Amino acid sequence: MTPARLIEAKRDGRALAADDIRALIAAYTAGDVPDYQMSALLMAGFLNGFSDSEAAALTDAMLHSGRVLDLSALPGTKVDKHSTGGVGDKVSLILAPIVASCGVPVPMISGRGLGHTGGTLDKLESIPGFRTDLSLTEYKAQLDELGIVLIGQTDDLAPADRKLYALRDVTATVESIPLIAASIMSKKLAEGIDALTLDVKCGRGAFMKSEADARALAETLVGIGTAHDTPTVALMTRMDVPLGCAVGNWPEVVESIAALRGAHDDTPLMTVTYALAGEMLALGGVADTPDAGRAKARAAVANGQALDCLRTLVAAQGGDPSVIDDPDARPGSAPAYEVTAPADASGYVTDLDALALGWAAVDLGAGRRTKEDTVDPTAGFGLEHHIGDSVAPGACLARIYGTHTDRMDATAASIREAFTFGPEAPEPSNVLMARYSDDGWTSVA
Ligand code: URA
Repeated sequence: MTPARLIEAKRDGRALAADDIRALIAAYTAGDVPDYQMSALLMAGFLNGFSDSEAAALTDAMLHSGRVLDLSALPGTKVDKHSTGGVGDKVSLILAPIVASCGVPVPMISGRGLGHTGGTLDKLESIPGFRTDLSLTEYKAQLDELGIVLIGQTDDLAPADRKLYALRDVTATVESIPLIAASIMSKKLAEGIDALTLDVKCGRGAFMKSEADARALAETLVGIGTAHDTPTVALMTRMDVPLGCAVGNWPEVVESIAALRGAHDDTPLMTVTYALAGEMLALGGVADTPDAGRAKARAAVANGQALDCLRTLVAAQGGDPSVIDDPDARPGSAPAYEVTAPADASGYVTDLDALALGWAAVDLGAGRRTKEDTVDPTAGFGLEHHIGDSVAPGACLARIYGTHTDRMDATAASIREAFTFGPEAPEPSNVLMARYSDDGWTSVA
């Protein structure tokens, strides 16, 4: 296997043999292929595409780049969820404790921020002390004891995805169906789950901008799950405007805690969360149908058991559980800058550009511009106006947080530009678009 020959083949639009893909991924994981060659190959594949059989070989090679866990000795049907990436998408932080507190074990391997989107690992690590680097022994023991564990890829678990993910983040090679599918399914299948739910985001703030592409991604992901005997359900959800009001790591944790206190029920954020929870509880065998699962999930928020589960999770993974009860006590929680509506703003917020807001958060320090960047855990903003809200000149549009005060004028300008105002409130659109499983596409409400 000579990397330059494989790059040349992909550059010229030829398919790679499964053996070559396996050898390439093994060599890259071992550090024997440098980032510059892998970047070139990713970009060639991004531009010229990968066939279905190349995508299957890539997923397999990445899945077997480390250990594939067997959790069958632990009780319960283990169910996980993954999102294809969005702006303000803090669903996993809310969902995992809801589902685990309802009796379905949730072993979750998450990713960091990718492109303009945030990542669950970065959000969790903004909780002072929270460890996402548990050993596999700790991972299994915690799952057994608490029914919930959230970690990142390790040297043992999907290490190829850890390296490729970090490289794709900074080389503009994210928005490829085969690369996204291999990335997600390799780490999910490695973690030893029995079933999986997927939130396939569609729209301006997602990697899949069109409904046709989002449908194709959902079908590819579910197809890989089925091929690996792992029942998989995908919900396609709208991602044109941010999900919720907070964008950035710690600000999103704060919003998630409030959501678990019931503060955001009946918002798009919780509509998506409860729909996914319903699917997970049905897959996990504790609800007869996804609708019955949704009702259970709502009850788990209303009676406080889901918030208790988050507090227990944070303490178990070394985090400071006191921030769950008093998030404002965390240093860096006070806003540093207020963005006001321009003098000609009147009427309603008619649009809110999730993609622009995602990049604004990255530029502020909530994400990475190079692989070596460290994120500012407190960087981000909270929208004080969302789509459909009435607005007046000088009203507060957003509050900005973080330590990079030198970047805040630019962030404020980007936030202001992301808003569109008009005389009429827009028609609300349903955040849930469709559901896909082995049985095909169905509508979901
Ligand atoms: N989530 C992942 O884990 N990988 C991708 O490539 C995109 C979203």
